[in-house]
Amino acid sequence: MDTVQDRHRTYRGHLFHIAGSPHSAAVDAHVVSERDGAIAVDRQGRIEWVGPWGRAPRHVIERPVARAAFLLPGFVDTHVHYPQVYSTDAYGGGQLLEWLDSCIFPAEARFKDEAFARQAAADFTARRLAVGTTSAMVFGSAFPHAQDALYEQSLAAGLRTVSGRGVQVLGPPSASMLLTDEEEALSLVAAEIDRWHGTDPEQRPAHEAMIQTAIVPRFSLSTTPRTLAGLGELFTGHRDRGVYVHTHLSENDRPGDGECAAVRAAYGVEHYLDTYDGLFLPGSRRGGDSLLGRRTIMAHAVHCADVELRRLADAGASIAHCPVSQQFLGSGTMPWRRTTASGVTVAMGTDVGAGDEWLMSRVLASAYGVHLSEPAGASVALTPGELLFAATLAGARALDQERLTGNFDIGKEADLLLIEPTEALAGAIEFGVRADEEDRAHRQLLFTLLMGLRESAIRGVVVRGRVVRGS
Ligand code: GUN
Ligand code: ZN
Repeated sequence: MDTVQDRHRTYRGHLFHIAGSPHSAAVDAHVVSERDGAIAVDRQGRIEWVGPWGRAPRHVIERPVARAAFLLPGFVDTHVHYPQVYSTDAYGGGQLLEWLDSCIFPAEARFKDEAFARQAAADFTARRLAVGTTSAMVFGSAFPHAQDALYEQSLAAGLRTVSGRGVQVLGPPSASMLLTDEEEALSLVAAEIDRWHGTDPEQRPAHEAMIQTAIVPRFSLSTTPRTLAGLGELFTGHRDRGVYVHTHLSENDRPGDGECAAVRAAYGVEHYLDTYDGLFLPGSRRGGDSLLGRRTIMAHAVHCADVELRRLADAGASIAHCPVSQQFLGSGTMPWRRTTASGVTVAMGTDVGAGDEWLMSRVLASAYGVHLSEPAGASVALTPGELLFAATLAGARALDQERLTGNFDIGKEADLLLIEPTEALAGAIEFGVRADEEDRAHRQLLFTLLMGLRESAIRGVVVRGRVVRGS
């Protein structure tokens, strides 16, 4: 591990971030673009000063200075599957349920082999470092040894990780290696929480720790009412310590045989969300405790009714929006305006391996195109500020870690990316047409940076003030 001294630095470059804690409808007024900016990090890894280099106090200028063309907050991926690290671009020739059956369950079964899982954990962590994903909600493997390998790699790399083993008690024959009975499912989840929740090299409180855990039912088709009741009880017993819930919601609505219809039929519920809200008995009657709360993240939510979105918002839960994956699996897209209008926090997810982009800004590019292409009345051109927010501060909010990270506000832990434009991006930045009006020109530049960013341009990654890669 590096010394505490190493954190005591100033970063200098063109910085962009969403300052403060704006509601999603107000982010454009919170975009900060500082052409020659400085971020000073203290010995604890916190941001001590931020602003224009020209106005930085002496003690900020006099400490070691690391320069980059651009500085962005670290990316937050709110939905990424670790046991699918090698499954991007897998050909299943169908939508969600066929793809799970033919590509994903067999791929995830390989994690039963401990050496394979260790290699996969190393490769998964290396991918995160390469693309600057400083915080992630990681959908875990069914196998406890594979989860151990993930957490060990994440700690060694200095990244922020929330994860939990994927719970499956039901599934087709291809999932047989991933299944346990209900009792074992609950005891494995409890053991993972006990072993890993709140692990932190600096003994920070559990709800701020580098490693935190989640209760992760794969989706309602892989569980039963009894499993959901048991998981609800576990959540009630552990939520005070900051334990999360992570799962999939309303992703595939193919008429007749899609996921959504199958969930409603299997449980006899009115809405898919009821199954996660303790209302999993026929007629949406209560059967146990809800899995919804401020630390609950639902992936997709493409086909939700307004009442479901309102319930998510009221519970303080969030949505991981994964447009790359939704296109790959023909899932449709989460309706942007209707979803955000409900007040629910929408953050971004790669959903690797249904998503084949590890880099969050590529997911933003997909979001931009997909939502501009929504039908008339729903079509929306997301602003550069909304895009940056979605991949940074909104992610920190979804993880209930906004107090810690997500932007460059003074007092937050310094999670940032050092960017040196390469290839096409360098030309677009230097020669792209910009408005005369300064504010608009800055937003145009931010858009170019986000849309043109490639892995090769991310030259350094800093988490909690520690340089975890490069520079
Ligand atoms: N629903 C249940 N499991 C999965 C998965 O692995 N990926 C996606 N995209 N959806 C799911
Ligand atoms: Zn997923």
